[in-house]
Amino acid sequence: MSTPVLQAIGLRRTYGDTEVLKGVDFSVDKGQVKALLGPSGSGKSTILRLMALLEPPNGGEVLLNGKQIGVETLANGTTKPLPERRLAVQRRDIGMVFQRFNLFAHLDVRHNVTLALTEVGGLNKAQANERAEAMLERVGMANRMGHYPSELSGGQQQRVAIARALVLEPTVMLFDEPTSALDPELVGEVLDVMEKLAESGMTMVVVTHEARFARRVADEVMLFDGGVIVEQAPPDDFFDNPSHERTKRFLSHLH
Ligand SMILES: Nc1ncnc2c1ncn2[C@@H]1O[C@H](COP(=O)(O)OP(=O)(O)OP(=O)(O)O)[C@@H](O)[C@H]1O
Ligand SMILES: [Mg+2]
Repeated sequence: MSTPVLQAIGLRRTYGDTEVLKGVDFSVDKGQVKALLGPSGSGKSTILRLMALLEPPNGGEVLLNGKQIGVETLANGTTKPLPERRLAVQRRDIGMVFQRFNLFAHLDVRHNVTLALTEVGGLNKAQANERAEAMLERVGMANRMGHYPSELSGGQQQRVAIARALVLEPTVMLFDEPTSALDPELVGEVLDVMEKLAESGMTMVVVTHEARFARRVADEVMLFDGGVIVEQAPPDDFFDNPSHERTKRFLSHLH
């Protein structure tokens, strides 16, 4: 059995009195695509944020290539969160794309993509530009290098956001409903880019409501509800022959 690229073990997260993640076990193998479905408020974004080290869990572990990340082990064997500077280094292995594209409004497309390369990646301007151009080419945005986010459609902005995450050469990409803020006619161009990325062998976790995309691209589909994973199965089983009542009910609302 090979080591998962990204793994969560017993992951817990509480906000106030509410336990949003109740000890979630999750893993994705190299080159695998996992689609995460579930009702609003079930904790889908939360688990992605914890695995991307954007906030610390209240319990449990996140492992990248078998090694726990986000914490350091003290001499007495207990762990504590890493200082921000070291978290930032680990975060570079985990690309994240959000529902709202979160591009820097004051930077053009080129600089949105090169910023992290020159600021934390240690590349000079020419190297960063070369990498950025190649990545923007891949998402079909190389002809918009000088445009500002406000001059782009939502689909174009999201493709730039994907290029910005990819340019750091992450080990795994996490997508949090990447198309749900888009006008329907712009959804396809973003899903196409993601499908190509999956075909290129990228390891991906995708929170989505796009059942057709999940069926076509994902290796496994999961239903998340009430802070736990209710069902996990290959797409045909998940959609056509789910084991759990909860999944059947969820799917009946989806179609
Ligand atoms: N920073 C926070 N502070 C307090 N409560 C939070 C915080 N983030 C999330 N929650 C709560 O945790 C629960 C799960 O939120 P989360 O955003 O993970 O759900 P989701 O499955 O992504 O939902 P959606 O489909 O609407 O995006 C919700 O009840 C939410 O209100
Ligand atoms: Mg969410």
